[in-house]
Amino acid sequence: MKTQSILRPSRRGFLQTLGVGSAAAAALGVMPGFGRGLAHATNSNATHHVAAAPTSVNLLPGGGMQTPVWAYNGTVPGGLLRVKQGEDVHVRFDNQLSEASSIHWHGVRVPNAMDGVPGLTQKPVAPGEIFDYRFNARDAGTYWYHPHINSPTQLARGLYGALIVEEAEPVAVDREFVWLIDDWRLGETGEIDPTFNGGHDVGHAGRLGELVTINGVANPAIAVRPGERIRLRLINTANARVFAIDFAGLAPHLVALDGHPVTPHVPDTPVFLFAPGMRADFILDVPPDASGDFAVIDRFFDGLENPLARLRVRGNPVRGDIAQTSMALPDNPLPEPDLQNARREQLLYTGGMMGGGVLRHLVETGKIEAGFLGEVRSMAQSMMGMMTGGGVWMVNGRDPERDELGPLFSLGNGESCVVTVTNATAWYHPIHLHGHAFRVLSRDGQPTRYQEWQDTALLAPAEQAEIAFVADNPGDWMLHCHILEHKFGGMSGFIRTA
Ligand code: C2O
Ligand code: CU
Repeated sequence: MKTQSILRPSRRGFLQTLGVGSAAAAALGVMPGFGRGLAHATNSNATHHVAAAPTSVNLLPGGGMQTPVWAYNGTVPGGLLRVKQGEDVHVRFDNQLSEASSIHWHGVRVPNAMDGVPGLTQKPVAPGEIFDYRFNARDAGTYWYHPHINSPTQLARGLYGALIVEEAEPVAVDREFVWLIDDWRLGETGEIDPTFNGGHDVGHAGRLGELVTINGVANPAIAVRPGERIRLRLINTANARVFAIDFAGLAPHLVALDGHPVTPHVPDTPVFLFAPGMRADFILDVPPDASGDFAVIDRFFDGLENPLARLRVRGNPVRGDIAQTSMALPDNPLPEPDLQNARREQLLYTGGMMGGGVLRHLVETGKIEAGFLGEVRSMAQSMMGMMTGGGVWMVNGRDPERDELGPLFSLGNGESCVVTVTNATAWYHPIHLHGHAFRVLSRDGQPTRYQEWQDTALLAPAEQAEIAFVADNPGDWMLHCHILEHKFGGMSGFIRTA
């Protein structure tokens, strides 16, 4: 993994500062189906009530320290919404914060007016107001919800929750875990660091926190049984942190990305790169002869590993051999893009610190055409000539967050589109499209092995990908980096479907 120096104390130092040792962490205990907020299972076809309000939670084990947060229904993560595929969902959102908010249903193909983007699809939901969200859960899978106004602050303060859409016939597993993975930047006394959108964060890797939690718990211990088959639904709710997950040799099968099925396979990389906004469903078979603890670890930054969770194998084997039933999920009803007749578009991301060399390299290797670059340059010049400058980001030479510009591009209803997305920066960017799922056709000119459907595709520094989708959902749809400080700094915009 690429090592980047980031300014932060080591997590171990942080825990020592707070007088929290591993014994205290162990006192957190072993909770079957553990997780805060995840007990809020709801009835189908009922109205779901989601209120955003300030509260306090205990993020660190030991019980001593309360952190003031903003939360949905009083817990971090917020209440788990679980519905069935095809169900009409009605969520009444009640804003009890002191500032305007909204709910965006990340990854769900909702009607445009339900997409929760103030300024683009609805008015901000003012303090004390309610807003009714209604949509049909067309696609099964793992989704999540969060505000889409002042997002770097509102998400960092704890506003996020999971939305699970169950398949009519789910794959058979013994248990299911939903893990919302987050990190927190806290001050000495446990309060959330109130400096949001700091210049360094915006121009570098975004707001990284020192404390990593799963469902609001740092490094939880979770009891599993030998031979048990577990469906693990992972959701990255961090503002900015990309995790490189090491599953301690357990080699789970990836069965869905961003909610949509992929051919079940064990990823062939030693760690699984998991960026903000993304979801991944794994089927994990605990070996029938396993014993002891398995430490799941984030290894994105060399020397700054984060423990994520400990799976403790306990009890009698569930079965003598690894389960043999199928792991394949049924396809979602996604429209297949017509690649022959598709419209071609380009998105070129530039800016941030140290981006100049990457852009030059991509031009020299012919990945960026001279003609297109010329257009981008003149756009950038008319926007103050800050194409590779100090810490702002641009899409095709413009800064859409700062300017009243129209859509990045417009598509006819039902039109297929192939977009070449180029990351001409020195940083990772998870690029998220609202209201649609796209196929990732290729990366750096090589067809992807699984042609996976995603709504949030991670691009490494200097990486170029081709994505394809059908614009079958009319409206204006955000297309932005899900590192929220990058979005704030200009990696944003929207497309229009007639
Ligand atoms: Cu998860 Cu535009 O957002
Ligand atoms: Cu980014």
